[in-house]
Amino acid sequence: MTKKHTITSIKKAKGGTPLTMITAYDALFARLFDPIADIILVGDSLNMSFAGAPDTLSATLEQMIYHTKAVCTGAPHSFVICDMPFGSDTDKARALDNAIRIFRETPADAVKLEGGSAKAEIIRHLTANGIAVCGHIGLLPQAVRSEGGYKVKGKDEAQVAALIEDAKAVEAAGAFCMVLEGVKAEAATAVAEAVSVPVIGIGASSGVDGQVLVFSDMLGLFEAFTPKFVKKYLNGADLVKEAVTAYKTEVQSRAFPDDPYIY
Ligand code: KIV
Repeated sequence: MTKKHTITSIKKAKGGTPLTMITAYDALFARLFDPIADIILVGDSLNMSFAGAPDTLSATLEQMIYHTKAVCTGAPHSFVICDMPFGSDTDKARALDNAIRIFRETPADAVKLEGGSAKAEIIRHLTANGIAVCGHIGLLPQAVRSEGGYKVKGKDEAQVAALIEDAKAVEAAGAFCMVLEGVKAEAATAVAEAVSVPVIGIGASSGVDGQVLVFSDMLGLFEAFTPKFVKKYLNGADLVKEAVTAYKTEVQSRAFPDDPYIY
């Protein structure tokens, strides 16, 4: 068991061994990841892989709090970040009220919110009031409807400059690290070099300070679609289906329960 990360140790990881962040939504999986991951993210992606919605936008603060409590129970040794769901951080007062609710009702270590320069004042307000904030720039899943899809960023000079401006604004507002999602490799490196806090990539190449993946994607459990950046480290869906099929076969043939499983 490695020691639980702190804001300080996460900041110190800049430029060193890349940080490993993974999502979790419940105590069951969080307990498995607890001794391994550096950071556990209770992402609003739970609205898709856990609740079955087509995107993250309908996730609620209550849902995030419920799942964060469960994750913190399962992973007491992990640094846990809770996503601010869509609409919960639209202005300074609302964002602070909601972040305070997350901090009061769960033992989460930090919140994450989507947006760069446009959200800098809100991030500043949270950090000035004792809330640790992880930024999230680049492809913003909460913008999927307003942008008409998931759009990779950093494709030309202007986009790279905008990403760097976002990253600097988020850092200057007091974020201790930031997620950088769905950007071209050269842009990701430029962003990581432009700031002194760790940049955790997802679909952002290896030239950053860490990686994050959605656990149900990397375990091959989520079948609806697989983004290009997802590496499946397990064929989870196939293994689960095989196991449940074997169970059904044995139930139907009365092979289960046999001797070891009866009183
Ligand atoms: O909601 C989530 O899981 C996330 C990751 C994609 C970074 O924000």
